Amino acid sequence: MDELMTCRLDHIRKAVEPCTLVIFGASGDLTARKLIPALYHLAKDGQMPEDFRIVGFARREKSAASWRAELRAALESFSRSHPVDSAVWAGFAERIDYCQGDMADAAAYAKLAGMIRDFPTEALQQNLLFYLATSPSQFSVVAGHLHEAQLLRRDAQGCWQRLVIEKPFGHDLDSARVLNHELTRFAHEQQVFRIDHYLGKETVQNILTFRFANSIFERLWHRDAVDHIQITVSEKLGVSGRGGYYEEAGALRDMLQNHLMQVLALVTMEPPVSLDAEPVRDEKVKLLSAVRRLQPGQVASHVVRGQYREGFVGGEALAAYRAEAKVNPLSNVETFVAAKVFIDNWRWAGVPIYLRTGKAMPLSASEVRVQFKAPPHVLFAAQCGPLLDANALTLRLQPNEGISLRFTGKVPGVGYGLRPVRMDFSYNSEFGAYTPEAYERLLLDAIAGDATLFIRRDEVEQAWEIADSIRAGWDGRPLEKNEFYAAGNWGPHLADELLTQSGRAWREPLPLT
Ligand code: BG6
Repeated sequence: MDELMTCRLDHIRKAVEPCTLVIFGASGDLTARKLIPALYHLAKDGQMPEDFRIVGFARREKSAASWRAELRAALESFSRSHPVDSAVWAGFAERIDYCQGDMADAAAYAKLAGMIRDFPTEALQQNLLFYLATSPSQFSVVAGHLHEAQLLRRDAQGCWQRLVIEKPFGHDLDSARVLNHELTRFAHEQQVFRIDHYLGKETVQNILTFRFANSIFERLWHRDAVDHIQITVSEKLGVSGRGGYYEEAGALRDMLQNHLMQVLALVTMEPPVSLDAEPVRDEKVKLLSAVRRLQPGQVASHVVRGQYREGFVGGEALAAYRAEAKVNPLSNVETFVAAKVFIDNWRWAGVPIYLRTGKAMPLSASEVRVQFKAPPHVLFAAQCGPLLDANALTLRLQPNEGISLRFTGKVPGVGYGLRPVRMDFSYNSEFGAYTPEAYERLLLDAIAGDATLFIRRDEVEQAWEIADSIRAGWDGRPLEKNEFYAAGNWGPHLADELLTQSGRAWREPLPLT
């Protein structure tokens, strides 16, 4: 039984104090789909502070009662557990309030401050979490007004005020620096919690546990044993109605600069001295700073971009990206990007890391595959050839969450047949189907003031430097014919060549077991 005991590290979790959460952009999609369901589940699981208030701030005219009714209806669709527990909801809903106002209007913040002042305890009045579910262009406007209204103070004593913001944090290095600079006029860096929702995923958090709570694999986690690493984040969906946003972003800014860079950092960084926020983030920054920046002339040989044409995904017809609403019919925005990157440090020198992400792919899957070197001796090589490169470790981030180790085994029977076999760990069979949503963990950590899973200013800037060095190679160059792919494919053929030129190949995400 011993080996199945759980080692609880709950004591390293910070306590959650009574507080007020203010959601800017309260009428938006994120609030209804993610934030409120996450807060409801935290309340249901007894994880919220013993007292809290939630205030929605938005322009639309409505009462607290009508907002609560809207949220209740949305919860029916977006809750991860059904049915919604009416008793929990009733207790939760009575803590929800609504403040109608314009984000650019100073008077609206005075009204908000008045509402908060009326809450019954000092903690509810002074421990304030501001969630900016708004367009990034509003971040510093809101922060500035909150500061003026004395709701966001840099010198708060015995209480706390925090800002939570979501990507995009700028659209390149320069704009990210400007944004970071503006925010720090109103709040210390320690008060700014930048969300990358990938870090809230259990499987992504498990990367550090897997690497540093075990001794088997870390010994092999370097250039002597690893041939290369592949990180794939593919999505079956097209841009599905988000054409306006996507035209400004593209796959490089939307996915690679943030989610893929974070996964890359966790997979390849050095062990931090502790699990506290700063040591973990220091190591990520060190790693990102070691990712080789490309010169514009190197981009074509290291990075492939693509855009989907019409096609079929899982048997369903999908229109071309250029035919999407709010997309320029001659758009050159990439919906796919694949890159070969190198990390110039002692551990990873010379090991290619292949990253790819795209829309309209055959499968929705996020996984990391660590491909180990082929065995050194030729015992079976003559007969089996490429089969012998079979040692690979796959971290399935989603779906079918788990980890598989692939190795070569003998097929039972007379004679000598070899084939790859798998050892598999599946979250579902080990822990059951319960997986909290990323936002639950992230909101709780923000309330607790634990910034480990949030992105620090210098991480954002490093990641932009990498993305900008790629973009510089594309600037002014329209997409060429061979950069298009039919929806339902793994990107343009050029993406295969990134690997085949060195005798490697992309591995398709593992089928569901
Ligand atoms: C978001 C991107 O950050 O991540 C979307 O803006 C993308 O374009 C989404 O679809 C993917 O997240 P997940 O959790 O579904 O893999």
